[in-house]
Amino acid sequence: MTALSPLLKQATPVTIDHALGSEIFDVDGNRHLDFTAGIGVVSTGHCHPKVVAAAQEQVGKLIHGQYTTVMHQPLLALVDKLQGVLPSHLDSLFFANSGSEALEASLRLSRQATGRPNVIVFHGGFHGRTVATATMTTSGTRFSAGFSPLMGGVHVAPFPTAYRYGWSEEEATAFALKELDYILATLTSPQETAAFIVEPVLGEGGYIPGNTAFFQGLRERADRHGILLVMDEVQTGFGRTGKMFGHEHFDVQPDIITLAKGIASGFPISGIAASEELMSKAWPGSQGGTYGGNAVACAAAVATLEVIEEEGLVANSAERGTQLLEGAKAAAVDGIGDVRGLGLLVGSEFTAADGTPDTARAQAAQQLAAKKGLLLLTCGAHMNVVRMIPPLVVTAEQVDEALEIWGKVLAEV
Ligand SMILES: Cc1ncc(COP(=O)(O)O)c(C=O)c1O
Repeated sequence: MTALSPLLKQATPVTIDHALGSEIFDVDGNRHLDFTAGIGVVSTGHCHPKVVAAAQEQVGKLIHGQYTTVMHQPLLALVDKLQGVLPSHLDSLFFANSGSEALEASLRLSRQATGRPNVIVFHGGFHGRTVATATMTTSGTRFSAGFSPLMGGVHVAPFPTAYRYGWSEEEATAFALKELDYILATLTSPQETAAFIVEPVLGEGGYIPGNTAFFQGLRERADRHGILLVMDEVQTGFGRTGKMFGHEHFDVQPDIITLAKGIASGFPISGIAASEELMSKAWPGSQGGTYGGNAVACAAAVATLEVIEEEGLVANSAERGTQLLEGAKAAAVDGIGDVRGLGLLVGSEFTAADGTPDTARAQAAQQLAAKKGLLLLTCGAHMNVVRMIPPLVVTAEQVDEALEIWGKVLAEV
């Protein structure tokens, strides 16, 4: 009998019938609070009526207007709409389909614009699953093992993961920047380094926010050496962190940002934003694709941005994020070594008494939560961080309900 490949892993046993806002209803009629949001994708919640209406209307007008053959209105409307939320210096856009493709696009642009072969990524970062982006991913060997050789030209520098080192944030940041300088002196000279590629908050790597001193340290070195600063905003973009983009927390200006996930509430579309000056250094025709900037996805993205604005979802993300983080901290029991996050990205790290990662307990907590109607995911190199990442429309009552379930889970595991 034909079946789904066993290489797909499913984190919960749920088969969805339908979903609305922050709630999923399964085929057996059970309700689940969805604190996974399709891994941070359904920003306006499942099936927001305005996003549904925009997509339905677009389906009847034009589904696919291949963007290297013709231009279509939803794509132009999206460019217009993004102009209102992007940093003003990032005034040129390119669109693809997935986060991985956006990261590949940023890599190609960085190499073509600088004429330099290498990039530096930061330890614990996740940038995708294509071979190039798997090479740049260092949040776990599970994303790159077994299909080497990977791509050349990628070097890895430390991220200031204070909890893991057992240091203060200042100590971890000083170490990370010192090692970066050492890497530039020993592994890839500045003249051969095209870009630093970094997440504002490590996502798959364990929900670890960066900090202002670290990102400003990257910016200063990038300016000094003509290296580009690429901020991967695939998970942190569009209000997820309580600001429109994650880097805005750190008073730093990126040269390129990558966009995907929350941009279109579930329709596959991604992109990169850079200055026109930088973008014009890419070789014309060197990027593209059959499906990039799909018309229905663009219409959904325009509606998503309107909903984010009209419903004040960035502010809701900040407020509900504080509620969730404080609640998760208050709920933490012995064996949870660290609770951290930014906006509606909240992680609880399970650590055994001897200080080692407690993967088994984190997995048990995630599974038990699913049984009790709260869908969660794990992350981190050892999968010992339970992450909460609800849609931006989540209500105060839903956060309270999730925290109540989480408290019961922690009392039992
Ligand atoms: C920060 C970051 N970059 C890139 C990606 C890759 O995106 P996609 O899975 O859409 O290829 C992800 C996906 O989780 C991500 O979180």
